[in-house]
Amino acid sequence: MSFPLYAPAEEHDMLRETVRALADEKIAPRAAEADEAEEFPWDVYKALVAADLHAIHVPEQYGGAGGDALAAVIVIEEVARACASSSLIPAVNKLGTVPIMLSASEELKQQYLSAVARGDAMFSYALSEPEAGSDAAGMKTRAVRDGDHYVLNGTKMWITNAGVSEYYTVMAVTDPSAGGARGISAFVVEKSDEGVSFGPKERKLGIKASPTRQVILEDVRIPESRMIGAPGTGFKTALATLDHTRVTIAAQALGIAQGALDYAVGYVKERKQFGKAIADFQGVQFMLADMAMKLEAARQLTYHAAAKSELAMKGQPQKDLTFLSSAAKCAASDAAMEITVDAVQLLGGYGYTKDFPVERMMRDAKITQIYEGTNQIQRMVMARQLLK
Ligand code: CAA
Repeated sequence: MSFPLYAPAEEHDMLRETVRALADEKIAPRAAEADEAEEFPWDVYKALVAADLHAIHVPEQYGGAGGDALAAVIVIEEVARACASSSLIPAVNKLGTVPIMLSASEELKQQYLSAVARGDAMFSYALSEPEAGSDAAGMKTRAVRDGDHYVLNGTKMWITNAGVSEYYTVMAVTDPSAGGARGISAFVVEKSDEGVSFGPKERKLGIKASPTRQVILEDVRIPESRMIGAPGTGFKTALATLDHTRVTIAAQALGIAQGALDYAVGYVKERKQFGKAIADFQGVQFMLADMAMKLEAARQLTYHAAAKSELAMKGQPQKDLTFLSSAAKCAASDAAMEITVDAVQLLGGYGYTKDFPVERMMRDAKITQIYEGTNQIQRMVMARQLLK
């Protein structure tokens, strides 16, 4: 009998070294200015594509790197350690394409996964709407059949990397009479489709170098072959996707927190008060120990969830994946918020300024408690799993 291991393999450790070197050299130096300018870092995207790290999850048969779920976690974690906005490149490419990997026809897989793998296009995920956030099944966007086409109308909101992505997985109501979840289908919409436009960039607290915009669909006519899976299965595909990708948000949170912890550790050894380094004060040491302990606990949960995600992706359903992915996302994002706040505290007044990266990291950490389902929704998902 063999048991699956979730400890990183040697290949994972090597991958981490590669990503960290790239992040130190090409991503970290750009993080503050990309945040300040609120501009998508195309140079970082190109560097990630050149290293085949922009969408490591795409299977080899579609021209991808064929990394497993833990590999994707490690890439996102290490990029986020340097720049949370940039970590949304591999994370959102995965979020946009998992619906295809789980449910689409071979034809769609060939066409879209290959384009993402080549670095020709990014792929976003469009579920939320202005009035359908936590209650995602309450969406209003409609897709009406017209011969062998569908015509889409509606507004999707909070779409990460909207405008810079070429492709979008869009969930829309195809059968209002089915009521909510069972009447929703998923489609691939292209940026170049007639009738697709984007709202202004949201003015956000953090992840400022990743555009968040509405995707507006006005009489967007697409062939029926662009439906992902069968009619009425779109909501299930959307939730099954989140079971895999909430793990990637956990990874992003881990990376942000690690970046803040590493910076704070370096700082307290240098900063002198009362005639000695502040690292010599036990109160400071206890803070660091708590930060590292919370981070490592969240990391182990995330890696465990990633191992389950990988097994499920390989066709071995994992009953506890829904629980574990919500638990990992919730634990890691709550930990990241606490750790980044403490990092700012350890730097004192300097930590509160834009001259030090922990200020950005604290702002960036906040979104991980909100997107891909608020942490209140994660707790609801976990409780439902416990009680069902
Ligand atoms: N996998 C597959 N199917 C699932 C599922 C899962 N994990 N969970 C539920 N389902 C199925 C159910 O079995 C049900 O199907 P049947 O009717 O056939 O039984 C159907 O989906 C509907 O399920 P529920 O009745 O549980 O649905 P609900 O309306 O009560 O909603 C919810 C459940 C958990 C609250 C869900 O709406 C949710 O997760 N909300 C949060 C939305 C969210 O995470 N949004 C994030 C947007 S993406 C984003 O933020 C990304 C970004 O830009 C970076």
